[in-house]
Amino acid sequence: LAATYDENWAYSSAFLEWMTGCILARLRIGDGDVAADIGCGTGLFTRGLAERAAAAVCVDASEAMLAQVPASGRLTAVAARVEDVAAGRVPQARGPFDAMLLKEVLHHTGDRAGVIAGLAGLLRSGGRMLVVQLPGRISYPLFAAALELFAAHQPGPDQIAESMRAAGLRAELTYESFPLTFGTERYLQMVRNRYMSLLSYFDDEQLEAGVEEIRAAHPGKTVAFCDTFAFVLGAAA
Ligand SMILES: C[S@@+](CC[C@H](N)C(=O)[O-])C[C@H]1O[C@@H](n2cnc3c(N)ncnc32)[C@H](O)[C@@H]1O
Repeated sequence: LAATYDENWAYSSAFLEWMTGCILARLRIGDGDVAADIGCGTGLFTRGLAERAAAAVCVDASEAMLAQVPASGRLTAVAARVEDVAAGRVPQARGPFDAMLLKEVLHHTGDRAGVIAGLAGLLRSGGRMLVVQLPGRISYPLFAAALELFAAHQPGPDQIAESMRAAGLRAELTYESFPLTFGTERYLQMVRNRYMSLLSYFDDEQLEAGVEEIRAAHPGKTVAFCDTFAFVLGAAA
């Protein structure tokens, strides 16, 4: 995905600003704080962290994603898997951290409770961990098979909150929505580009059938929907 990620995912500066605001309002980063963005991708949201924190570590398993993280004296990019960070096997990402962001990465991991427990151990006293992800079900204008596959694999945000509590954090779950409108053809091209990793489970033929299904359901020039996100905030005592 790395080559087309920002083109498809950044949506608009308004979306980035809105999401950055949602993240910063919860992580409450103060002067001198050390932050981590785990599964940072191209660093779209690390930028906001780095502006407030004294230092930010951004970690991603993909070198191609990390190569697009903007250079900054306050940012250290680390190529590593979240599982290794959680197990304390990554010397540059052992913390302790005051603020930790995991945006849309936990669903890529197997033992989510174990990963959350490991990462919670890297928080300083009073530190915050924020998991941002889609809810258990989405109402995107995708084809039915994609929506079903999503629901079958997406970890429920309430399970994430439970795992945080089991790891000794105080956890709070909130939702926020951002209204999106795309030109229908642009959205269909995003689907063809497999703009969600979920779409990589479909081959070209299945995807083209899916595109036709979406086109039939949305015959107009635009598709509009609400992008709802779950924010699970854990705080260390
Ligand atoms: C949907 S993207 C989210 C990127 C970024 N957090 C954002 O919101 O823009 C998921 C990212 O997780 C990374 N990733 C997937 N599995 C991972 C793992 N096991 N450890 C670390 N990063 C992983 C991918 O390389 C990708 O950059």
